[in-house]
Amino acid sequence: MTDKTYEPAAETVARAHVNAAQYEEMYARSIKDPDGFWGDEARARLDWIKPFTKVRNATFAHPDVSIRWFEDGALNVCANCVDRHLATRADQTAILWESDDPAVDAKITYRQLHEKVCRMANVLKGQGVVKGDRVVLYLPMIPEAAYAMLACARIGAIHSVVFAGFSPDALANRINDSAAKLLITADEAPRGGRRTALKANADEALLHCSDKVKCLVVKHTGGQTTWVDGRDVDVKAEMAKVSADCPVEEMNAEDPLFILYTSGSTGRPKGVVHTTGGYLLHAAMTHQLVFDYHDGDVYWCTADVGWVTGHSYIVYGPLANGATTLMFEGVPTYPDASRFWRVCEKHKVNQFYTAPTAIRALMGQGEEFVEAADLSSLRLLGSVGEPINPEAWLWYNRVVGKERLPIVDTWWQTENGGILISALPGAIATKPGSATRPFFGVEPAVVDPQTGKEIETVEAEGVLCMKNAWPGMFRTVYGDHDRYVSTYFSDFKGYYFSGDGCRRDQDGYYWITGRVDDVINVSGHRMGTAEVESALVAHPKVAEAAVVGYPHDLKGQGIYAYVTLMAGDEPSDELRKELSDWVRKEIGPIAKPDLLQWAPGLPKTRSGKIMRRILRKIAENEHESLGDISTLADPSVVEDLIENRKNRD
Ligand code: WTA
Repeated sequence: MTDKTYEPAAETVARAHVNAAQYEEMYARSIKDPDGFWGDEARARLDWIKPFTKVRNATFAHPDVSIRWFEDGALNVCANCVDRHLATRADQTAILWESDDPAVDAKITYRQLHEKVCRMANVLKGQGVVKGDRVVLYLPMIPEAAYAMLACARIGAIHSVVFAGFSPDALANRINDSAAKLLITADEAPRGGRRTALKANADEALLHCSDKVKCLVVKHTGGQTTWVDGRDVDVKAEMAKVSADCPVEEMNAEDPLFILYTSGSTGRPKGVVHTTGGYLLHAAMTHQLVFDYHDGDVYWCTADVGWVTGHSYIVYGPLANGATTLMFEGVPTYPDASRFWRVCEKHKVNQFYTAPTAIRALMGQGEEFVEAADLSSLRLLGSVGEPINPEAWLWYNRVVGKERLPIVDTWWQTENGGILISALPGAIATKPGSATRPFFGVEPAVVDPQTGKEIETVEAEGVLCMKNAWPGMFRTVYGDHDRYVSTYFSDFKGYYFSGDGCRRDQDGYYWITGRVDDVINVSGHRMGTAEVESALVAHPKVAEAAVVGYPHDLKGQGIYAYVTLMAGDEPSDELRKELSDWVRKEIGPIAKPDLLQWAPGLPKTRSGKIMRRILRKIAENEHESLGDISTLADPSVVEDLIENRKNRD
């Protein structure tokens, strides 16, 4: 660990939108006078069709949690991200697309973006999609993904993007949970020189969905696909036929913009619902201030649009600010480990935002890959998705940032809509491994998990909660508001509970220590242990399964599965592989267990509850500190597990 503080460089301060004094002043106002603060920001940053008169109407009081911002105002997200820029920047590149193939890229100007989005919107309308309908996107990282999101926003349809790495089953569940009317997919998704057959996955998923669900297909690679007449539509061909003009729908600020499914500690993934006005304001403002975006900059976030980071920081935030946003189809290590840096050089990227797992992977490949590229255009580095370990931070700073660039370690969650804790580059000194301080309007509380009371001292350790609503936060869980209240607002009444543990140091800096619930963070992707367990027990040979996270050098956390077989089924290496492949097929490659251990029995309390604490310790090889095991129904199972664990290594 290092507690060294890195002050922002003079050139960073000179350019920054916000300096240290302004941060303090603006932060104080945002807490004391949220209505004044956010009202001013919302009027300055967004174009309203109908001005709002009310800023905030929110309560975390259990069980009547309800969050509304700008509730009598009307606007359209697509108009704010596209149309309003036409007068001043029609010929500026909006989306800079870098294909998986390093020889192929494309520049889409705001004028072209407008035309594509209008055409896509008219295709959707032609398929009968109307305001409020749900549309599922299952797409590669291609401009059509952004067109589709914006087209939905334009006509008031609610999009739900499903990461292209998810399996047909996971896709079907998401289509069905939101009763979507239409699916948009592509023939194939190229990544790292390989192709995933998205349309084939979609075909399989649609077998489990209503036969009314239509399927728009982007012919991207031209790969072979099967075609179901009457259901499948060639979207590019249709776009060429329809009008290039499509009026925007007037949306209330609280109308839903999108649903995004995310893993929790229990049950199936939840459909996190974000709405229109507050979300866009938060995404736009954080994009500008945290990344210190200025007109003319080229900004690159390496996330996938299948995750929230792609929503807020590839599409909505940057486009609302009239930015040039780079969209990358490939992976950091194809054709080799210099790809990220080659892309930065080629497109003269100014702000670069990636995940610790990518940094760790590239660290292991050697510095020569970074040094091969001219990175002089870079002005800022960002990190998101999991705690960044100080080694990775220091490497990022030294090798990529040449010890002159600010690093913003941004903490936030799908539920949050946008960044909540992060340095502002010209205002807040950084410490490797700390997300530093809260964004405007964000009031973190460190809560003692035992007493449920907020720890008021500056130095504190506990779970991370929020005291008050911010504009970009989610409003409900799709179709299940009770689950919203019980998951996020019940454990610590009066607070939003993040599920993360944290420490606050003597300078008021926040250090996120990771999830305190049964969610694991694998390469920056959230995975519920319950999901992996239910996939495993769906296999006919599995009687019981328990899944925990364990420290993994590259992924941050790995997936450790304990499996009890049905009587009569014998453990074998083939079966181990079969079960791993099974999970991959049920959920997707990101859910595949890294280690799978046979468990003749699982440690349970007398009431039958699995003691995960013990399983976590065994997975971490910390056999000496298992704690009290006397409450177990059968303490001897622990000995067996430790023996099996030892035999694995
Ligand atoms: C973790 C991604 C430490 C955290 C935007 C959170 C982080 C979960 C950071 C949300 C960070 C994200 N430092 N931990 N800078 N950023 N996390 O919903 O555990 O995919 O709860 O949103 O990732 O993941 P999600």
